[in-house]
Amino acid sequence: MTTSRTALVTGATQGLGLALAAGLAARLEPSDRVLLTGRDAGRVEAAVAALPARRARVEGRVLDVRDPAAITDLAGDLGEVDVVLSNATSRMSPEQDPAEEVDAVVETNNLATSRVLRAFGPRLRPGGRLVVVASALGTLDKLDVRVRERFAAAARGSLEDVDALVADWRAAVHAGRAVEEGFGTWLNIPSKVAQVAAVRAVASARRAEDLRAGRLVVALCPGLIDTAASRPWFADMSSAQTPDQAAAWPLDLVLGDEVAPFYGELVQFGRVLPWETGIPVPHRAVS
Ligand SMILES: NC(=O)c1ccc[n+]([C@@H]2O[C@H](COP(=O)([O-])OP(=O)(O)OC[C@H]3O[C@@H](n4cnc5c(N)ncnc54)[C@H](OP(=O)(O)O)[C@@H]3O)[C@@H](O)[C@H]2O)c1
Repeated sequence: MTTSRTALVTGATQGLGLALAAGLAARLEPSDRVLLTGRDAGRVEAAVAALPARRARVEGRVLDVRDPAAITDLAGDLGEVDVVLSNATSRMSPEQDPAEEVDAVVETNNLATSRVLRAFGPRLRPGGRLVVVASALGTLDKLDVRVRERFAAAARGSLEDVDALVADWRAAVHAGRAVEEGFGTWLNIPSKVAQVAAVRAVASARRAEDLRAGRLVVALCPGLIDTAASRPWFADMSSAQTPDQAAAWPLDLVLGDEVAPFYGELVQFGRVLPWETGIPVPHRAVS
């Protein structure tokens, strides 16, 4: 173990990402540093300034995850890392044409996830944590049967296979063929399943070595959280968590010692969700 750890959170200017960064800042040691990152310099600065009591050092960094060079540059700059939480997401609206939103969703949620995994995976110190914030929508059962096996096959393959499938889905949305090809209308479902597929592809390639070194690669479903991203999609938000509540168990997982049961899996509330079957997720019907 190193004496000074570096933790990084993407999309940390609000919502869950901000709560995760605040939790790391409160729970890591004074010798550690937390990089609170976001796409807008003013929002990053404001988020750092507004953080409550902290033990670890907090640095704000601009990281627009849609910018491929920004991810590799930051990784090169940091050299080695201990905790990377890939959390950034592009908001969607039930009223919006998916063809108008798919580029931002694919680039923010999917291509960026692959780039974070590629750039930071090799830089993860022993005992490190590489975490992708996915969703309970990220299980295979949420997909139409016509495309399920394609996502499962990509997860058995490589990040390149996942990116290629995401490119097919993006093209289908632009061509107005997403429904007839089985990808459906709600962008969040293929996007989140592909994030989990990316984690599974990476994890299967490095599992043995990571387990020897105590490293964890994992996808998370944080559960329903009351944020501007979720409100338009769920008719009943009465059971939604605050971002701080939702960040609690992921931080326990990240800072805890247990690795093997969770390695490469999709985890919710400290339990592995079966990727094939998942759990039912109620949401507002979209015509
Ligand atoms: N909310 C839920 O109920 C729920 C449920 C399951 C999973 N999740 C997942 O939890 C994660 C966080 O969701 P949330 O509800 O907290 O979302 P949110 O409140 O919309 O926050 C999203 C964050 O991502 C940032 N972001 C957007 N585009 C970016 C880019 N190009 N580069 C860097 N940062 C960017 C936003 O920055 P700005 O401040 O600049 O906009 C913001 O800080 C997501 O992965 C989401 O899918 C959420």
